[in-house]
Amino acid sequence: MKGIATVNFKGGVGKTTITWLLAKYGAERKGKRILVVDTDAQMSLTLAVQLQESGTLYSEFETWYDTKHQGKNKTILNALEAYDVIKGGHFNFPIDSSFAYQMSPNLHFVPSVVDLYWLELEVFDREKVKHFIRALLGKIEHSTTFNYDYVFFDCPPNFTALSYSVLSCSSLLLIPVNPDVFASRGVGLMIDGLKYRIEPWPDPKVAVFMNKAKLYRGNLTRETQRYWEETKAVCDVKRQEGIHIEGWDSYIPDRVDIKRAIPGQYFPSQFKHYFADLWNNIERILG
Ligand SMILES: Nc1ncnc2c1ncn2[C@@H]1O[C@H](COP(=O)(O)OP(=O)(O)OP(=O)(O)O)[C@@H](O)[C@H]1O
Ligand SMILES: [Mg+2]
Repeated sequence: MKGIATVNFKGGVGKTTITWLLAKYGAERKGKRILVVDTDAQMSLTLAVQLQESGTLYSEFETWYDTKHQGKNKTILNALEAYDVIKGGHFNFPIDSSFAYQMSPNLHFVPSVVDLYWLELEVFDREKVKHFIRALLGKIEHSTTFNYDYVFFDCPPNFTALSYSVLSCSSLLLIPVNPDVFASRGVGLMIDGLKYRIEPWPDPKVAVFMNKAKLYRGNLTRETQRYWEETKAVCDVKRQEGIHIEGWDSYIPDRVDIKRAIPGQYFPSQFKHYFADLWNNIERILG
């Protein structure tokens, strides 16, 4: 079981969209067993899953969330609370169908909870929080009902106690960037920041790719190409500094059908080869 965290401290680059569509691709087209965890207090993914395109609520998920998940104290925050109180004893948080919702046979989902906003203010043992996701993944892995190939974490656009924990145990940090001036600068700043904040640097693989790429007649526009070349140059510098970072030429185009895919509850099949390219890179880099 491999952990993949989608991160970028810049907001709106497509972390949530790409996490979900990649997970859907892997689960439904490649037959992998995948868990997606929404670690963002904004709850974008959770709300997107909940809302159909018409704006009506996806009632089965909502009922599960209210009665089984939050109602039975089985949220990710409840898991962290259970982990925080153990003192050399047993991490008492059974993993079952109240924790993860089955979206389709191979795709399970752990939603977020708005109380994550207050996580930073509560008094958790900081060192302990760092190891929480690792402990949780251990529990998930040893549970008899769950047998995942990949766990995707949709991270918030800022550095939180929970993302600290996610980044400290992920095998791959997936960084989507957009074709703008923030792409290359953002990647450099973020890698430096992560190196500084995560001690010891757990040495995950890092991969950068372009989302919302602008196309003209099926090829990247010159502007998008230029931003991508700048970003790859930053990746080269960081690689020389010893980071396992790759800039992938596989990209996802800027398309309305991709934007609508999560609330519309579909996979944008006409763009599947873009997701296939990304997926192949993920499998290759994770070996
Ligand atoms: N390839 C794409 N083509 C068109 N629209 C896209 C694409 N990817 C993402 N979007 C749109 O861009 C907006 C931001 O996407 P998303 O919420 O996935 O970003 P994010 O990085 O998760 O944001 P945040 O930082 O707030 O968590 C959304 O409206 C989404 O539908
Ligand atoms: Mg998001």
